Amino acid sequence: MASDIDPVLRAWEASRAADAAASVVIELAETAEDQRQVREVLDHVWPGEGTQVTPNLLRALVHSGSYCSLARDRDTGRPLGAALGLVGRSGEVPGGVFVHSHMAGVWEDYRDRHIGTALKLHQRAWSMGEGIPVVAWTFDPLVRRNAFFNVVRLGVQVRSYHEDFYGEMTDAVNAGDRSDRLVAWWQLDSTQASLAAAGELRAPSSVALVDVARALLTDVDGEPVTHEAPTEAETVLVHLPSDAVAVRRADPARALRWRFALREAMRAAYDAGLRVSMVTTDGAYVLEPTEGRWHESH
Ligand SMILES: CC(C)(COP(=O)(O)OP(=O)(O)OC[C@H]1O[C@@H](n2cnc3c(N)ncnc32)[C@H](O)[C@@H]1OP(=O)(O)O)[C@@H](O)C(=O)NCCC(=O)NCCS
Repeated sequence: MASDIDPVLRAWEASRAADAAASVVIELAETAEDQRQVREVLDHVWPGEGTQVTPNLLRALVHSGSYCSLARDRDTGRPLGAALGLVGRSGEVPGGVFVHSHMAGVWEDYRDRHIGTALKLHQRAWSMGEGIPVVAWTFDPLVRRNAFFNVVRLGVQVRSYHEDFYGEMTDAVNAGDRSDRLVAWWQLDSTQASLAAAGELRAPSSVALVDVARALLTDVDGEPVTHEAPTEAETVLVHLPSDAVAVRRADPARALRWRFALREAMRAAYDAGLRVSMVTTDGAYVLEPTEGRWHESH
């Protein structure tokens, strides 16, 4: 029976199944050549001046026990994705150690083929094997793809909202915008992480929630429209633009209007004690007073 299997073995099984589904082989980037390929992927995903990670820094991070992996095409061996996680300390984690996932990226033409899921499930299995129970990272709350990926495909818990987390950023993906971030907290053996790893975490559509959830932020013809602040007992929906990165490239002023509207909506919801419990299939955060309801019932 599945429940009798050691959780680490089960995590590796899920990881291998994800590799097969995405037609990739994922391995730790242990050699200098592996690490050069990791940098090639990360610099493609976050283009800018110079490199995202210098070779000596990456070498030092891997040497001192950080997680660094590369996803290669199963047939051609071409590097298609990479992930880098730093081992950090937190008083909130049993054992005091967690992985801070600094970067995870997939070559642009190869996104939405489940390579990102495979990379993260490899990171999950590795971390569990090392006795580390949590992987955490920050993500841009405006990017719908990442919100859906983190909450629905991986089963993370969404924690605090940080305004301008990194200060000014100069890479081509983020330049000109504010670096607001949400914290993703991936409790690796939680029910929702295990359901997600098995491909069994289901998201509702916002249409199915109209009777229980009121919209706090909507998207009308590409512009953000905010509605009255929530009360403590409400469930609210905060809609995202379908592709904030494209909006930022095409119309930076509109992207900033979205940034501030989302910041305001999230602040109002957080002040009312609401927290993200799910992301809908059409790209809205569900925030509610009690966490986890949609994880259990959908
Ligand atoms: C985030 C990232 C690593 C995910 O990798 P990926 O290989 O595309 O991920 P997957 O294919 O495994 O899963 C993506 C899911 O998001 C869904 N998705 C894609 N665009 C979406 C959108 N605009 N709205 C909602 N969901 C979206 C995909 O359909 C897929 O779900 P599915 O499994 O139901 O098909 C990749 O998009 C990336 O490199 N992004 C740029 C770098 C980045 O932002 N990294 C993450 C920092 S937290």
